[in-house]
Amino acid sequence: MASGYWELKKLPPMSAEEFDSWQSLLESRTGMTLSPQRKTFLETSLAMRMREVGCDSYTQYYEHVTSGPNRLVEWAILVDRLTVQETRFYRDPAALELVRDYLLTRPAEQLGSRPFEVWSVGCATGEEPYTLAMVIDDCLRSVGMARYYGITGTDISTPALEKARKALYGERRLADLPETLRDRYLERQPNGQWKVSQTLCERVCFARMNVLELRQAPLHGMNLIYCQNLLIYFRRWRRKDIVSRLVERLRPGGLLVLGLGELTDWAHPELERIPSEKVLAFIKKAH
Ligand SMILES: C[S@@+](CC[C@H](N)C(=O)[O-])C[C@H]1O[C@@H](n2cnc3c(N)ncnc32)[C@H](O)[C@@H]1O
Repeated sequence: MASGYWELKKLPPMSAEEFDSWQSLLESRTGMTLSPQRKTFLETSLAMRMREVGCDSYTQYYEHVTSGPNRLVEWAILVDRLTVQETRFYRDPAALELVRDYLLTRPAEQLGSRPFEVWSVGCATGEEPYTLAMVIDDCLRSVGMARYYGITGTDISTPALEKARKALYGERRLADLPETLRDRYLERQPNGQWKVSQTLCERVCFARMNVLELRQAPLHGMNLIYCQNLLIYFRRWRRKDIVSRLVERLRPGGLLVLGLGELTDWAHPELERIPSEKVLAFIKKAH
């Protein structure tokens, strides 16, 4: 496979049939769809990886990914290259404000005496779950409530989760984060990066999970499920399917937050939509 002169050879453009095969593989394994406009992105991403492993045709690499001896490892690497992991701290202030209101306005008995359990679905490199931890910690402090909370961030990309566990971020990812939260929960490192404080890290854990396999997810009775900027890559029927699965994991009275516009004209018999033009969020009805 590998050849010293491979770099000199240019890959021929991907044929329509090849594009269809790759798009079907990606969709069946991750749910993500790739429109024909993203063909160049697919070609470039595959070509980079093919150069690394020394494959010189899309078909040969397809075989390598689907039936080669290292197919599982290869797929894990490739899926990381093909998913969009754009994220940042405090990405959606309106949704975070709603989480804050939810926490501060619920009577304590509705929140229950159990730990406050949060799930960030499609958490990428961790900025979202750490932001949720900051908001929750800040709320609890402001009302002097000593309540245990735990946040689980899940994603399909193993490399993204490795970065999340390191909890080290460059300045750019912090651009939207209010300074008060930044100064309380992040520590500036000598190299200019920012490290999430140990107190927050102890509350947040990460696990690899494919949202197409939610039936196997060991997470139940969540108080808050936060799923933003993941469903947009999926077909509408799949979005509805995934969100219905998430509803099963929410406890009565729990809060579900999606990205605005990610699931329009949709209702669920167990959910009540929170009236807001800025946030797409629902409360699970009590039985
Ligand atoms: C654009 S990021 C969103 C990050 C964060 N939720 C936010 O809003 O800033 C989308 C994430 O979804 C993940 N993803 C894509 N398909 C997935 C799947 N089938 N299961 C779990 N995560 C998936 C990607 O790896 C990526 O990290």
